[in-house]
Amino acid sequence: MTRPIHIRACSAAQLPMALLLEADPHLPYVQAYLAHGHCYLAEHDGATVGVYVLQARSPSTLELMNIAVAPNCQGQGIGTQLLQHALHSARQLGATRLEVATGSFGHPLTFYQRAGLRVYAVEPDYFLLYYPVPLFEQGLQHKDRLRLAIDF
Ligand SMILES: CC(C)(COP(=O)(O)OP(=O)(O)OC[C@H]1O[C@@H](n2cnc3c(N)ncnc32)[C@H](O)[C@@H]1OP(=O)(O)O)[C@@H](O)C(=O)NCCC(=O)NCCS
Repeated sequence: MTRPIHIRACSAAQLPMALLLEADPHLPYVQAYLAHGHCYLAEHDGATVGVYVLQARSPSTLELMNIAVAPNCQGQGIGTQLLQHALHSARQLGATRLEVATGSFGHPLTFYQRAGLRVYAVEPDYFLLYYPVPLFEQGLQHKDRLRLAIDF
């Protein structure tokens, strides 16, 4: 089922921090990119059900720094709508490429590749060396990070 949602640009202060931390649980990292990010939220019946944040990596490349759907609303197509909106926003902002970094397994990897993003780099041990909080998914600790991208 795909829920009717409204996605719009917003200020960083309008994004619920609890939702951002679902995707990226280290608060200082989130605060750092919020300060320079393009922020968007998805609403359903007046409630915020999803968020995403884009940040410039270069004049032609934006990075999707965070995308998250409220836990009770996941698996209903909202994430896919947000990701499509992010691709559209990136083009509108003048980018020719969108990148994202994610763990080397788990459903976000399927989620991104379904939208056409492809792996272009592997960062072995990234989460062990550079991420201050241990990240687990499906009972398995994330160690390596993948970088994915799509060119428009
Ligand atoms: C990743 C996320 C944004 C996807 O949003 P969503 O609204 O749940 O995604 P959708 O309903 O649009 O699902 C799209 C696809 O993602 C995958 N997917 C999403 N949730 C899944 C789950 N719980 N288990 C397995 N696959 C899942 C499936 O491939 C799904 O396709 P399908 O419905 O045909 O099986 C959401 O699960 C989320 O917020 N997760 C926590 C934060 C996070 O991990 N962010 C990404 C960090 S890299």
